[in-house]
Order: sequence, then C-alpha cells, then structure tokens
Amino acid sequence: MTSAVRPGGRVEIRGLSVVLGAGARRTEAVRDLDLTVESGELVSLLGPSGCGKSTILNAVAGYVPPARGSIVVGGERVDGPGPERGMVFQQNTLLPWKTVLNNVGFGLKMRGVPERERREASRRLLQLVGLSGFEDAYPAHLSGGMQQRVEIARVLITEPRVVLMDEPFSALDAQTRLAMQELLLDVWGQVRTTVLFVTHDIDEAIFLSDRIALMTGRPCSVGGEIAIPFERPRSAAIVGSSEFAAIKRQCLDALGYEGRGAATPARATPAREQQTGA
Ligand SMILES: Nc1ncnc2c1ncn2[C@@H]1O[C@H](COP(=O)(O)OP(=O)(O)OP(=O)(O)O)[C@@H](O)[C@H]1O
Ligand SMILES: [Mg+2]
Repeated sequence: MTSAVRPGGRVEIRGLSVVLGAGARRTEAVRDLDLTVESGELVSLLGPSGCGKSTILNAVAGYVPPARGSIVVGGERVDGPGPERGMVFQQNTLLPWKTVLNNVGFGLKMRGVPERERREASRRLLQLVGLSGFEDAYPAHLSGGMQQRVEIARVLITEPRVVLMDEPFSALDAQTRLAMQELLLDVWGQVRTTVLFVTHDIDEAIFLSDRIALMTGRPCSVGGEIAIPFERPRSAAIVGSSEFAAIKRQCLDALGYEGRGAATPARATPAREQQTGA
C-alpha cells in the first residue's frame, strides 16, 4: 500500500561546512556540501567510515551548527532541533524502565497529549512496525531488530516530515538487517516522509533508495549521485539482478577511487552526466 507524500519535507542544503572540536582536535568534517532532497524521497548518503556522514545528519537535525552555508527544511531555516525532524540512531534510545507502549508514546507525553490519545497512537504505530502484542514488554526483553522497530515507531509518532537514519541497522545480524530494510520500505510506503539514510553498506543503499549521494572523503561533500531505477514496491529479488550489480560497480568505483588516498579529495562524476555521456 502506498499513501500520499507527507508535504513540507523538502531538504535543501547549500554550501554546508561543519567544523567539529577545537584547538588540536579541530576537524573540518563537512565542506561545501550541496544536496536537495524532495518531500517523500528516500536518499542515502553512502561513504567511507569517518568521512562525516553522521555530522551531516547531526547538522540537519540541528544538533551541530553550520560553520558556513544553510540547511532549509520545508522552507524554514534549521537553527536547532525541531519536531519536524526525527532521528533514528544505530543504537536505540529507548528508556529501559518504560514499557514498549510508553516508550513509543513518550514524545507525545512531552507534548502534553492526553494518555488515552497517546496509547491509541502508540498502538497504531506498533501495529505499523509489526509489534502488536508487545505493548507491555520492556526493551531488554526484545531482540535488537525489535528494539529498532520500537525506535522507528517512537520517532514516527510525532509525525516528522523528515526522518534521519544513521546506520540504523548496522548493529544487526545480516538476516535481521534484510528484514528491517523490507520493514522500512513497507512503513515508508505508508508514512511517506522524507528519509535521509546514512550507511556504508552499498547493497543496503541501493535496495532502499530513490537516489544515492556518494560522499567524498573528509572533509566530505557530495561527490556524485546515482538515481536508483528499480520500481516500488521492491522485493529482495532485485539484489541478484544484473542491473543491481552494475549500480553496485558504479558505487564501488566511485568510493574505491576515494579510498586510494588521492592528494585532493576526488569527485565522482555525477550519475546523470555519466548516463548522458556529458
Ligand atoms: N567532537 C569532535 N571533535 C573533533 N573531531 C570529531 C568530533 N566528532 C567527530 N570528529 C571527526 O569528524 C570526522 C567525521 O565524523 P563523523 O562521525 O561525521 O563520520 P562518519 O562518516 O559518520 O563516520 P562512521 O562511518 O565511522 O560513522 C571523523 O574523522 C571524526 O573523527
Ligand atoms: Mg557515523
């Protein structure tokens, strides 16, 4: 089932530079990054470890300020955290002393939503992520994959327009990870927010995304983009196709080139130029 795109989730990043730390630890993590993501689009940031992917998400979330440039979400400039942007981290942020239902409803509680309404919304979200029946369980009693489902429900309950996901499945075993990717596509088909998904797993990026932004080494920016042509809904069968292998080759070439330590950060040729031979 596919539902209407939730509006107001357009993300425009222009000339973004982010500097972390100070003194000897001062690091320019992001430099001159431009990226536009349309409302309801699922875009992956794919890049090598340490290049600055989390920093980009943290900047969009409003946790770290830009040194230069701007981030605009739904027409409004980001200058701090906001409820229209929700973050899913690699390690979940569930409160161990609260039940699954109360964890999911926590964001609404903070907003003063009455308990009955909160419980109803939480049950709906738990159903969406396939966890009906686990309302009264505690996080410690759930598997890693189930905990991440609760986390996704927890983030979606406040109806964000943009969901930021920072390697949300990388702590899971391979089989659970695949199941979570399918679950995410299923949920996203029903709650069409914008998704910015950080990963260094090429297969994951191709399987999930409308578009992949290939990151350069640090300080990172977007070195190239690849549009993913597979129709939706997608099945895991596409992973074995020759088209999938060709896209993977394209990603590997772009990222591998970065990895050989060119003196200046290399920039992959944007996908559209490659396709048109420009
Ligand atoms: N507080 C800090 N002060 C100085 N440098 C930092 C700080 N936090 C992170 N860095 C550095 O900034 C760079 C970018 O970090 P970031 O976490 O954004 O990378 P990443 O691409 O998400 O990496 P990974 O794939 O390992 O998650 C890294 O080289 C990191 O060491
Ligand atoms: Mg990271």
